[in-house]
Amino acid sequence: MDRFSCKSVQSRNWKNGLAVALLMIAIVSLAVYISSFWTGATFELSAIISQHPPQEIIIPLNCSGKDQTQTCPSNYPKNFQTKNRGIPSSQSTCPEYFRWIHEDLRPWKSTGISREMMERAHPTAHFRLIIVDGKAYIQQFRKSYQTRDVYTIWGIVQLLRRYPGKLPDLELMFDCDDSPVIRSSDHRGPKSRTPPPLFAYCGSESTVDIAFPDWSFWGWEEINIKPWDSLLREIKAGNNQTKWIDRVPYAYWKGNAFSGSKSRIDLLTCNVSGQMDWNARIYNLDWSHESSQGFKHSDLASQCTHRYKIYIEGNAWSVSEKYILACDSMTLFVNSKYHDFFTRYLQPMKHYWPIREDNKCKSIKFAVDWGNFNRQKAQEIGKAASKFIQEELKMDYIYDYMFHLLNEYAKLLKFKPKVPDGAVEVCSETMACRANGLQEKFMMETVVKGPSITNPCTMPPYDTKVLASFDRGKFDGMKQVHNLEDKYWESLNILRHN
Ligand SMILES: *[C@@H]1O[C@H](CO)[C@@H](O)[C@H](O)[C@H]1NC(C)=O
Ligand SMILES: *[C@@H]1O[C@H](CO)[C@@H](O)[C@H](O)[C@H]1NC(C)=O
Ligand SMILES: *[C@@H]1O[C@H](CO)[C@@H](O)[C@H](O)[C@H]1NC(C)=O
Repeated sequence: MDRFSCKSVQSRNWKNGLAVALLMIAIVSLAVYISSFWTGATFELSAIISQHPPQEIIIPLNCSGKDQTQTCPSNYPKNFQTKNRGIPSSQSTCPEYFRWIHEDLRPWKSTGISREMMERAHPTAHFRLIIVDGKAYIQQFRKSYQTRDVYTIWGIVQLLRRYPGKLPDLELMFDCDDSPVIRSSDHRGPKSRTPPPLFAYCGSESTVDIAFPDWSFWGWEEINIKPWDSLLREIKAGNNQTKWIDRVPYAYWKGNAFSGSKSRIDLLTCNVSGQMDWNARIYNLDWSHESSQGFKHSDLASQCTHRYKIYIEGNAWSVSEKYILACDSMTLFVNSKYHDFFTRYLQPMKHYWPIREDNKCKSIKFAVDWGNFNRQKAQEIGKAASKFIQEELKMDYIYDYMFHLLNEYAKLLKFKPKVPDGAVEVCSETMACRANGLQEKFMMETVVKGPSITNPCTMPPYDTKVLASFDRGKFDGMKQVHNLEDKYWESLNILRHN
């Protein structure tokens, strides 16, 4: 048979067509079956993760020991240690600001950390944290201001509940004061000693203190600031209530002007007065009056009422930073000397508008005029900062930051950590069971229920090129704003003189 004859081709085509069609149907239905299986599986997985966030196993909080006799459970962490439960972190790579962990530990990268170096950090430290076999111990040297130390230690204890048995043994010194103290100029030159490693809440260009998330993530009871998780939710809901365009078109700041920084006192001179309107609305928080009223009028979630919010450091960096950035308003960031663990990632013109430290009023006036003229762009800057805060500064990442910082730090230790005389074991039981009032409330709210089912996010590698490009971006953004600002004032002067 001529295989090219019309009929035979047709009939063969018909038969082939049927076969192909049947095959196609089979493939398609198999694919549908498989994909339903797959989407079902991934759907289930994400449902597990979102409905039972990292808390599948519950670690009990046993408060049956009374007050002073309350002890830490002996079966922790060994009963809760999770052998790789097979679910990688849903977020996989950590946010960019984790890169500065490497930068903060750079002074010890080539030398490692000896016991002698660490002991030299003792003079200004409030406590020594020891982690051995997954348990935490504290040796207290002196009491910190307010309850900073309590909430910091509470945060560390929660980290241990989140990742039981996953933290390496370590010893570290922690300073709870405002300002960083280990000056790099004291440790320069061939004969000088390696600086002591000291953990603190902020750092600066001229110091090498290691920045650690501050106490307020777990609450600040003295001024009635709620734990970060719930406050973040409230601010988000509040942002939805007042659209940017409907907000007061001026720059707002409210805080303690007399906190010991000259810069804040300067800021008061930018307030609107009979003579001059610098576009700033400045309110001094009367600390003792507010304190007697339980800081009811300082509710942070209800302070996102202006299109522009000023951030200005106090003695050192200010806890207010994250609350201001979360507002959806454009942050007017007064050029600062200090940074906390995430500040260095923020970019001018992207997350905030830079304000000259040495010429605040003029700088603020221009920023507000610019924003009211370039509304879309101003809104975008406000939104970008809030998005960063909502998505990349949520508690999951705070814990992961602590995890990686402690982990990288521990890798540098050249001695075997041990529990010294005078150190006491701390755990959620010894802390929360003895707490009362607001402290009890905050602790019960922030207690980590059990081990995370996801692993910590993956650290970005140390890359000096990436860090340098951040610095360049910051420099360029700053310069761009300064140019605009100078032109603005020049043209105003020309107008005035004509
Ligand atoms: C709770 O702790 C007490 C002592 O603090 C202990 O006697 C008791 O067995 C513990 N209960 C549970 C369920 O672990
Ligand atoms: C924001 O408000 C709108 C209605 O004004 C509502 O539909 C939406 O769900 C809200 N979004 C959030 C995140 O609350
Ligand atoms: C700033 O000006 C406003 C409006 O006049 C006033 O209510 C406020 O108290 C002033 N702030 C300070 C710190 O004086």
